[in-house]
Amino acid sequence: MLMVSIIGLRTMRADEGMWVPLLLHKYTIDDMQKKGFKLTAEDIYSINKASLKDAVMIFGGGCTAELISEQGLIITNHHCGYGAIQHHSSLEHDYLTNGFYAPKMGDELENQNLTVTFLVRMEDVTDKVMAVIDPKMTENQRNSAINKLIADLSMAASEEGKYNVAIKPFFNGNQYFMFIQKVYRDVRLVLAPPSAIGKFGGDTDNWMWPRHTGDFSVFRIYADNNNEPSEFNVENRPYKPIKSFEVSTKGIKEGDFTMVFGYPGRTQQYLTSFAVRMISEIQNPVRIVLRQNRIDIMSKYMNESDLIRIQYAAKYARVSNAWKKWIGENRGLKRLNAIEKKEELEKEFEKWANSKQVKKKYDYVGILNEYKQLYTELSPINLTLDYIFEAAFAVEIINLSRSFTALLDATGENALLGAKKRLNAAADAFFKDYNADIDKETFAAVFAPYALNAPTEYRPDVLNVLNTEFGGDAMQWAKYVFDKTIFSKKDELIKFVEEFDGSEQKIQMLVSDPAFEIMESVVNIYNDKIRIKQMALEAKEDSLDRIWMQALMNFQTDRNFYPDANSTLRVSYGKIESAYPYNGVKYLFQTTLEGYMEKDNPEIYDYRVPEKLKELYLAKDYGKWGENGQMPVAFIATNHTTGGNSGSPVLNANGQLIGVNFDRSWESTMSDIMFDPEQCRNISLDIRFALFIMEKYFGAERLINEINFAKE
Ligand code: ARG
Ligand code: GLU
Repeated sequence: MLMVSIIGLRTMRADEGMWVPLLLHKYTIDDMQKKGFKLTAEDIYSINKASLKDAVMIFGGGCTAELISEQGLIITNHHCGYGAIQHHSSLEHDYLTNGFYAPKMGDELENQNLTVTFLVRMEDVTDKVMAVIDPKMTENQRNSAINKLIADLSMAASEEGKYNVAIKPFFNGNQYFMFIQKVYRDVRLVLAPPSAIGKFGGDTDNWMWPRHTGDFSVFRIYADNNNEPSEFNVENRPYKPIKSFEVSTKGIKEGDFTMVFGYPGRTQQYLTSFAVRMISEIQNPVRIVLRQNRIDIMSKYMNESDLIRIQYAAKYARVSNAWKKWIGENRGLKRLNAIEKKEELEKEFEKWANSKQVKKKYDYVGILNEYKQLYTELSPINLTLDYIFEAAFAVEIINLSRSFTALLDATGENALLGAKKRLNAAADAFFKDYNADIDKETFAAVFAPYALNAPTEYRPDVLNVLNTEFGGDAMQWAKYVFDKTIFSKKDELIKFVEEFDGSEQKIQMLVSDPAFEIMESVVNIYNDKIRIKQMALEAKEDSLDRIWMQALMNFQTDRNFYPDANSTLRVSYGKIESAYPYNGVKYLFQTTLEGYMEKDNPEIYDYRVPEKLKELYLAKDYGKWGENGQMPVAFIATNHTTGGNSGSPVLNANGQLIGVNFDRSWESTMSDIMFDPEQCRNISLDIRFALFIMEKYFGAERLINEINFAKE
């Protein structure tokens, strides 16, 4: 009985894992090939020849994109290009609503601050790191020794600014890799579908299957005469890739091998039961309720006014994305009995750690008790931070008021002038998309639970006024704040900034503003009571996590461990597969335009199918991209992915592009903490749907002609 459970816990579950490209030949490629992959580890990652890694990049801050032509054409998600598309949109050129296509190369649109980052090579620098630290160091000493080394190594590897260098811990600081990266800064918008395609289903369908979202956009990288990075310049030419993906349009079927190659952001696979309990029982429920309250208020106003819908579209998407993810995560963890599974593992671990032979070699006895103690102290702190970020700073004017401390901190006339200029610009941007009624209701809806439930030791005094002055009526409190504050009133606020001269009277005005006062009181709690304790506890957590990781590796000797995601390039592999999420329900692996039309509903904003798409559907005008009279839209597969994998290339057994990753199903979102091969599915756009939209919707022949198609 005992053996069975240990073995059950030890075996690596199929399809789980986000693997390090440099190490594929060691741990992963055999299994990949056994499952159908036809290429070698060298084909994926090599520093001696062009390899697939040369066709993948970080897009902007947090997405992935990939090259699909020899002229620097790249594809990513619509939601990854959203900022750029929105930035170019105006009432006359509403690219969000109508989509955008540059008929000629010269029409492709410049994007300030948009970069793509290639990985030139990576190096294991663990030995170098281990050489500068010793086990007797405190966590602080250790960190400063490592940071100094990182600075030195980066300096040397950057070749005078030619490369960007990042060094990141893996396996909770048991291993370190250095990443030499090249950043291209001239990235232009080429094509974006209308939101009714690129965001079809909106937040209603987000995290859901079946899905019919054409979530893609197309950009182009430009380089200087030597094919090197350059700021935007009309003289720049399309970047000539070292490698670009072949696009496969042959079609997919259930069971086909799939590989996702991209930049997953963060996972926490090796947490103890104590941490999972804190997240799922203490933090997630509070975050979910606070966001639910905000979402209800935003929806009410957005449904009533088109202006507000536009102003709050991006905010709503941001708030609702994580809200929905946390709901799915909590359900998934519960369904998997994640805490019980972890506890069972920990029980076996204790037995093992306490055995005579193990004690002779390692000192792991007591680590779980230390964890338990740690999370007892960390829980109220994390809960407080959730209230600070999800309640206090969720009120837009309170968040805005944070930057106004610059007026108090500025020393000297120039500094003050600079601060005033920045604040006026910030205020301008803020009021473009601001509605004070929404914000006021939000205030009441988030401060009521905050005042009621804030952990007592970290409770700002300002919360007491709810009872002492407003008889427990949060809306009365909100009315008072919004009546008195200048932060919700554009003209008053800008006038105040302009007239601010550092005089006692103006300072008094600022610090007695009710929004500013609340902000300060919250920030002071953080500075006075939380910051130092939090740093100490997190240092403790880092050091326990490092030991726990080693301990697990020594305990589960036949488990094939992979490092948690950390925004570095990873491979995950699996297969196209349907799923059985609920009793009596089967998720088929593929959706088609048929289902898109089924969802058509002019009454509901998220489900308005564009006329032109309806015409193409009625005429079955799918060109080369359809299959058996159907136009495929999206598919699911068993690849282990997370946030950051958006836009990642989805490849077939020959390493050819078959899709663009953009989401996971709702039943999968606990995979950041615990993966379940039965339930976890990543959602990808079928590349043929993107090609169909390019050709048939936009007539973008020039793009189709340059795309690198596989000969099949
Ligand atoms: N859930 C996907 C991700 O985590 C897509 C988010 C963007 N789409 C949206 N409807 N909010 O990023
Ligand atoms: N949409 C996510 C992203 O922007 C990917 C979905 C996920 O979390 O797996 O990266």
